Amino acid sequence: MKKFLGKIFGMAILLAIPAGVALAKDVDWTKLNPAFQGATYVKDSSVCFGCHEDYKQPYSQTAHAKSFQFGKAPASGDCESCHGPRSKHVENPDRSLALKPEQLTLACMQCHEGSNRMSWNSSLHASSGVACTSCHTVMSKKSDKALLSTARQDDLCYKCHTNVRSSMNKSSHHPVREGKVNCTGCHNPHGSVTPGMLKGGSVNETCFGCHQEKRGPFVWQHPPVLENCQICHDAHGSNNRKLLTSKDAFLCLSCHTYGGHVNSQRYNRVSTPTGEGCVNCHMAIHGSNSPSGAKLTR
Ligand code: HEC
Ligand code: HEC
Ligand code: HEC
Ligand code: HEC
Ligand code: HEC
Ligand code: HEC
Ligand code: HEC
Ligand code: HEC
Ligand code: HEC
Ligand code: HEC
Repeated sequence: MKKFLGKIFGMAILLAIPAGVALAKDVDWTKLNPAFQGATYVKDSSVCFGCHEDYKQPYSQTAHAKSFQFGKAPASGDCESCHGPRSKHVENPDRSLALKPEQLTLACMQCHEGSNRMSWNSSLHASSGVACTSCHTVMSKKSDKALLSTARQDDLCYKCHTNVRSSMNKSSHHPVREGKVNCTGCHNPHGSVTPGMLKGGSVNETCFGCHQEKRGPFVWQHPPVLENCQICHDAHGSNNRKLLTSKDAFLCLSCHTYGGHVNSQRYNRVSTPTGEGCVNCHMAIHGSNSPSGAKLTR
């Protein structure tokens, strides 16, 4: 019986903690803004809506409003979990308790530290002064998923990364524009341990997430493929076919300058309109499992 009750109790705890969200940690509000000194929690959002009615309807559509409504609100209540204890504000409403974006980030991290944001503090975004609210709008719902500030995820990133937009507009590109892949298919905007804030443990591991057939191992490996896909591909986009960093033959000849037929006009076919010369014969360019595939021709 005792065991059974324990089980029910355990389940109740599980239900009370939403997936992916850690238990709320306390924030030292006074440290963020000394004006919080002596303030207590009002714990009643209807008091807030008395003066901030404009926010009532838009906020009610958000994941936070919905989640907190079902008893998941922290001890600090709904609004005040992000805005801090507001008793003084209710008595004397002004902007003296306002927080800067980087301080609001600490408020968010009460509940969202860990999981995908494990590397936030060491990320280039954090160290460049990008805040949670640079990408997320939490007072209203603007995107289908993840409370983003724009309806489309790529539009959000392009606000600051205009160079990536121009790469993605090249003739060969990952289909982000077409909505088949997102920036977050390869990146974790909250930071990662991999340079470039990549999702995988390396460039190649990131690519294998979707192009598993390139992983191998192959009987006949092509060394640059093992080393880094980016030697031959630009992940965002290129004006050469198949995201190649240069036209096929030039690409190959940047390493294969000597040997066998490489310098013979008949084989090089640099001048074919599509420039596919070398891979017409060396089709297994990423590696071969054929017993006679040593030259990557099958
Ligand atoms: C999940 C955290 C969070 C919760 C919960 C939350 N807010 Fe906000 N609120 C913010 C952030 C962040 C901003 C800053 C505006 C922005 O960049 O989106 C903001 C902005 C505001 C503003 C305007 C601030 C300004 O500078 O003019 C008001 C007013 C406000 N919130 C009231 C409320 C009320 C009332 C509630 C509860 C019903 C609430 N908030 C719940 C995070 C939150
Ligand atoms: C008596 C009216 C009143 C009540 C009640 C009230 N506010 Fe305000 N609030 C204001 C006014 C006025 C401002 C200043 C607006 C401005 O100048 O932009 C303000 C500003 C804010 C801001 C932006 C500046 C800041 O201090 O961060 C937030 C956030 C906010 N209120 C949240 C809340 C929350 C949460 C509650 C409920 C606990 C609440 N307010 C209750 C009137 C009120
Ligand atoms: C008191 C805890 C708490 C605080 C503080 C908090 N959140 Fe949340 N957040 C939650 C909970 C609970 C959910 C709902 C999780 C779920 O349903 O899986 C959530 C969900 C989210 C989501 C996902 C929404 C979706 O549609 O999937 C985003 C994005 C988010 N929060 C961002 C923020 C940001 C930005 C801040 C600071 C401005 C913040 N949160 C502050 C608890 C919190
Ligand atoms: C550079 C933009 C950017 C910044 C800065 C950012 N986020 Fe996000 N966040 C996103 C995007 C994009 C997604 C959607 C990811 C997806 O769809 O896979 C997301 C998803 C989320 C989610 C829901 C899914 C998950 O990862 O758990 C939460 C919660 C969240 N962010 C919280 C935060 C918090 C807290 C901060 C500040 C510490 C923050 N974000 C900063 C872009 C950003
Ligand atoms: C508010 C501006 C802003 C937004 C929005 C933004 N970024 Fe950034 N991002 C930066 C800054 C600043 C840097 C630092 C380096 C630089 O200046 O390019 C950076 C760097 C990066 C880097 C390079 C990291 C490295 O280690 O080299 C990646 C990848 C990145 N952002 C991805 C994204 C993605 C994906 C999104 C959309 C989900 C996004 N960013 C949205 C400002 C932004
Ligand atoms: C197919 C995977 C993939 C996709 C999709 C992708 N990236 Fe990247 N991105 C990479 C790789 C790989 C790098 C290079 C990382 C390194 O080696 O440092 C990179 C580098 C970056 C950098 C830093 C260097 C630079 O070019 O400025 C930024 C910023 C960036 N990406 C933003 C974005 C944005 C924004 C999107 C969505 C529009 C996006 N990426 C989509 C794989 C991808
Ligand atoms: C989130 C999934 C995803 C990841 C991760 C990913 N790709 Fe892709 N990749 C795609 C999709 C989808 C296509 C388009 C396939 C199609 O249209 O049939 C594509 C197409 C390609 C193409 C062919 C482009 C063309 O013009 O036909 C190349 C080359 C490529 N990816 C290389 C890479 C490299 C290199 C990486 C790692 C940096 C990578 N991909 C990571 C999803 C991904
Ligand atoms: C030595 C240069 C080179 C390297 C390194 C390389 N590729 Fe390729 N890749 C090519 C060439 C050339 C093509 C075009 C092949 C063709 O048209 O038959 C191609 C085509 C592709 C395609 C699209 C056609 C297909 O075969 O599916 C994908 C996807 C791809 N590469 C992924 C990758 C991934 C993932 C890596 C890293 C593991 C990688 N490539 C490393 C040269 C390279
Ligand atoms: C970054 C340098 C680099 C690039 C670019 C490159 N390769 Fe290679 N390739 C190598 C290396 C290193 C080897 C292994 C050489 C060895 O074992 O002697 C190799 C091996 C080969 C082999 C097998 C040769 C043998 O002697 O067994 C063929 C065939 C080949 N590459 C064709 C190509 C083609 C075609 C391209 C262009 C699509 C290309 N390579 C691009 C570095 C490169
Ligand atoms: C008409 C088909 C064909 C074309 C086109 C072709 N190759 Fe080859 N290649 C072969 C065959 C077959 C072999 C193996 C027989 C041999 O050693 O000559 C080979 C062998 C090689 C080798 C290994 C040489 C050695 O000494 O063992 C390299 C490197 C190579 N090719 C690179 C290239 C490059 C780079 C291109 C484009 C500039 C290219 N090939 C175009 C058919 C072709």
